[in-house]
Amino acid sequence: GLPRHVTVYEVGPRDGLQNESAIIPVEVKAEFIGRLADAGHKVIETTSFVHPRWVPQLADAEDLLTGLDRRPGIRYPVLVPNERGLDRALAHGVEEIAVFASATETFAAKNLNRGLESQFDMFEPVIARALEHGVKVRAYVSMCFGDPWEGHTPIAQVVAVGERLLGLGCHELSLGDTIGVGTPGHVTALIEAFRDPDRLAVHFHDTYGQALGNTLAALRAGVTTVDASTGGIGGCPYAESATGNLATEDLVWMLRGLGIETGLDLGKLVATSTWLAERLGRPSPSRVVQALSKG
Ligand code: HMG
Ligand code: MG
Repeated sequence: GLPRHVTVYEVGPRDGLQNESAIIPVEVKAEFIGRLADAGHKVIETTSFVHPRWVPQLADAEDLLTGLDRRPGIRYPVLVPNERGLDRALAHGVEEIAVFASATETFAAKNLNRGLESQFDMFEPVIARALEHGVKVRAYVSMCFGDPWEGHTPIAQVVAVGERLLGLGCHELSLGDTIGVGTPGHVTALIEAFRDPDRLAVHFHDTYGQALGNTLAALRAGVTTVDASTGGIGGCPYAESATGNLATEDLVWMLRGLGIETGLDLGKLVATSTWLAERLGRPSPSRVVQALSKG
């Protein structure tokens, strides 16, 4: 069966804006996040406390959080790779973080400057200290389906990394198809290989146009949290073939048709995406945004 409600975990301000070549002013980011809240989002991944040289697009994380109107009832998680990042997040009153692991050796090296095993030396103290501070920890695993350098990612390798992160106390595990190569049968098989679909989320990039089909497969397998980015912006600067995330509007259109509640206002999301597209200087890649914004 299908769930009656889906939690949309919005990643536009983080995954979306980390990949823009233009430098977006911090005021525009804050307005984007405010508009996402107005559209009904209850969880908005806001920025990253990574090395500013690695992701200059998000080097303004401190300024953004300082000026941000954080509304009650809305979660504003941020990406944190290491203890230095955790210190920065704690100093800005962050209540939820996300660590991001790799399912493959090559991407761990490219994205984290670590190995498949040694990435855990970095995450373990971050997770432990965050939990001591009452900060919730989500975990990502990237390259869950395939990787540009290693090809197909074995399911057992994804499960080993993912279960280990859950065992360390992460409340949720987001399975990332960083380069969008997954297909629905593979999604079902991967989710079924985990012990507990309740703690899984899915994070699809729409590079091959499979994101919606993959999402439906994930919902049928018991997943109820879906990552998406308003307007379908996004990508990973350390995986060149990555394009935008599943667009929140495309997701909401499908879920609405299925009678699944999200609490999101599609009209406000589309208006936000057309507003943002002007600031980014290019149209939203979302098909639903394109269809609904034609006068
Ligand atoms: P490193 O070079 O190995 O860092 O990078 P280090 O630990 O050796 O430290 C070197 C210097 O950097 C030190 O300074 C640290 O203090 C400083 P020094 O003592 O030499 O003056 N430093 C920092 N400064 C500020 N904030 C920090 C920080 N950490 C170290 N947090 C590191 C390791 C993990 C930091 C680096 O590789 C990095 O920042 N990587 C992030 C890459 C990234 O953000 N990628 C995109 C997000 S992942 C993604 O998009 C996928 C996802 O969407 C899911 C999917 O689609 O699959 C989540
Ligand atoms: Mg991503």
